[in-house]
Amino acid sequence: MTEQNACSEMVVVANRLPVRAEITKAGTRWVSSPGGLVAAVAPALSRMKHASWVGWSGLANGAVTPFEHNGVRLVPVRLQQQEIERFYEGFSNACLWPLYHDSIEAPGFHRIWWDSYVNVNRKFAEAAAQAAAPGATVWVHDYQLQLVPRMLRELRPDLRIGFFLHIPFPARELFLRIPWRRQIVEGMLGADVIGFQTSVTAHNFRYVAPRVSRATSSGKVLNHEGRSILVGTFPIGIDADRNAEMAKSTETASRVEEYRELLGNPRKVLLGVDRLDYTKGIALRLQAVRELFDEGRLDPADTAVVQIAEPSRGNVPGYQTVQAEVERLAGGINGDYSSFGTGVINYQHQTLPFRDLVALYRLADVMLVTPFRDGMNLVAKEYVASRTDHTGALVLSEFAGAAVELRQAILVNPYDIEDVKDAIETAVNLPVPEQRRRMIAMGKSVHRNSATAWAESFLAALAQFGAGSVVSPAARV
Ligand code: G6P
Repeated sequence: MTEQNACSEMVVVANRLPVRAEITKAGTRWVSSPGGLVAAVAPALSRMKHASWVGWSGLANGAVTPFEHNGVRLVPVRLQQQEIERFYEGFSNACLWPLYHDSIEAPGFHRIWWDSYVNVNRKFAEAAAQAAAPGATVWVHDYQLQLVPRMLRELRPDLRIGFFLHIPFPARELFLRIPWRRQIVEGMLGADVIGFQTSVTAHNFRYVAPRVSRATSSGKVLNHEGRSILVGTFPIGIDADRNAEMAKSTETASRVEEYRELLGNPRKVLLGVDRLDYTKGIALRLQAVRELFDEGRLDPADTAVVQIAEPSRGNVPGYQTVQAEVERLAGGINGDYSSFGTGVINYQHQTLPFRDLVALYRLADVMLVTPFRDGMNLVAKEYVASRTDHTGALVLSEFAGAAVELRQAILVNPYDIEDVKDAIETAVNLPVPEQRRRMIAMGKSVHRNSATAWAESFLAALAQFGAGSVVSPAARV
């Protein structure tokens, strides 16, 4: 393949490739990348012809030769160890991540982190500029790459550029703390369409953009440097059909029974599935369960709690603290309430294959999704899609983007432990007809707002708006 015909009409740019490299004794192994971004964008992209995906392999100084995966051309961007520390662990995950999640942890504003963020964003922009055919569409993703749209437009004014933020865009008082707020806003304004998960977060951006840059606003459109930029709401979805098919398969059914046995055939199974992240509220959730046991409102003898905590960002200090806290709580509950052989809390600090997760979704009577803040939370949607018999109960944080659509969940304020306890008790005792009523309504929404529908609606807005047309937004705002 020559570099000329390697150029793509559609280029996705995200910090991570859809697969990450793991070095094993047998050599390099490619495994699915963590998190909701890849889970949603990968299925949408696999339906497109001749697409490229520009991203990092997860290794320091990894190889940069493009390769094919599931019909998509993957273009690795090389990060040096120091860039991983400053751009990825530093500015992206110890400044922007906590700040955008309502400053749950104090963000660090370090100039050497910022400098690295600028340099790495330029690398991604250059790689995207090379991968894109003339007049191509380039879709840039998430908080790690907010400067890429503007940098790319300077390199390639012929491109149609979209930007989607997967995590919340914070309230103005928080965003305005960032010393480089103008550069970030102007970076995003290099796009033709900027998408957010919820209308509240889209509104936050529309509010701050004119205050820190020369942009002017009119409704959903911002005008900047002679260009119009559509700012819209595009709630992300999952491949619900694939999820449901897997849930119904006989392999999954036998896995469900294996898990049930392993857990000692409990009457009720409660499940949490999260990256091990302080935004996810795992410790408070475990504390809520503990208090329900202490108060005799939940019986540890016939309850099993499964908490899957996928390893994540282990070099960032806030993550080490949350890991220690979760493990202390899980160990404490087991020490007080487990009998030999069967732990009441089954805590796994591991990444499970998707099929095993689906089996756990099938098994769980109650799903606990209680983040303090979350852009969307696709686990909530995966649980709903897996409940093909329409039973089960979802306890869902009001502060997850998914709560906008999944109104029939048992909604909680995750900061209010009494509210979380009441919700868990309600969920455990929810009558089956009521489970069905709620699950059917949520299932419809999850199937309707699929990953493909999400990508199509964003790209339709970009096709229409990126051509420099007058506003006729397809976005739901
Ligand atoms: C969230 C973010 C993604 C990120 C993922 C995994 O879903 O929105 O951008 O890729 O977490 O985090 P990691 O730091 O491992 O890429």
